[in-house]
Amino acid sequence: MKADVFTLFPQWFGWFAEQRHVANALASGHELHAVDPRATTPLKWGQVDDTPFGGGAGMVLRVDVMEAALRARYDADPVELPARRRVIALTPGGRLLDDAFASELAREPDLTLLCGRYEGFDERILEHFVTEQISIGRYVLAGGELAAMVVLDTVLRKLPGVLGDEASAVEESFSEALAGAPEYPHYTRPAEWRGWTVPEVLLSGHHARVRDWRLEQARSRAHNGPLP
Ligand code: 6GU
Repeated sequence: MKADVFTLFPQWFGWFAEQRHVANALASGHELHAVDPRATTPLKWGQVDDTPFGGGAGMVLRVDVMEAALRARYDADPVELPARRRVIALTPGGRLLDDAFASELAREPDLTLLCGRYEGFDERILEHFVTEQISIGRYVLAGGELAAMVVLDTVLRKLPGVLGDEASAVEESFSEALAGAPEYPHYTRPAEWRGWTVPEVLLSGHHARVRDWRLEQARSRAHNGPLP
């Protein structure tokens, strides 16, 4: 996958790229680029945003600035982009990210993520340059950067070979393998701590029984509502 993140804070993604599963993904040939719209702004003094028409608080990312950044990166009119690749704006009101959506994104060869800042995007960016808007929850962040990292974190870890153990992304919380249920409980050594024991079945060495127990646990967690 080749992922481009358009952000006014490209240096934030340096930290992100160093995290183990992200570093693994990059080492195995996937790409992540942080693109700074300030670098290609047609305006003076590195201006990228402006006050909202009609008044109000905050600043709005300008459509001409985003157009210049996308044009420079893809050498095309950005209105043509949505037909060629997914261009996703991070917005608090967008489609909520979940495991199924992340799996869908993990199948894309190319992704473009646009991070807004302050009050967000000029609406014409959303109307003409993007295929969809994603939100990571119904609360407002100061900018799309953390949300973009959340999206990339969950998408990149689904790519083949990125996690150390191939199986671990398949059978995990909310995945298809567990029919969308939260995950079963895990235990490791010591087998007893302060009198707190590990379920006997996990120590039994019966793989079929272990499997049944785990599925049952995942299923029963699914009916108990959200985890504490
Ligand atoms: Cl994607 N962006 C911002 N600014 N706030 C958010 C969000 C995104 N998702 C939840 N809150």
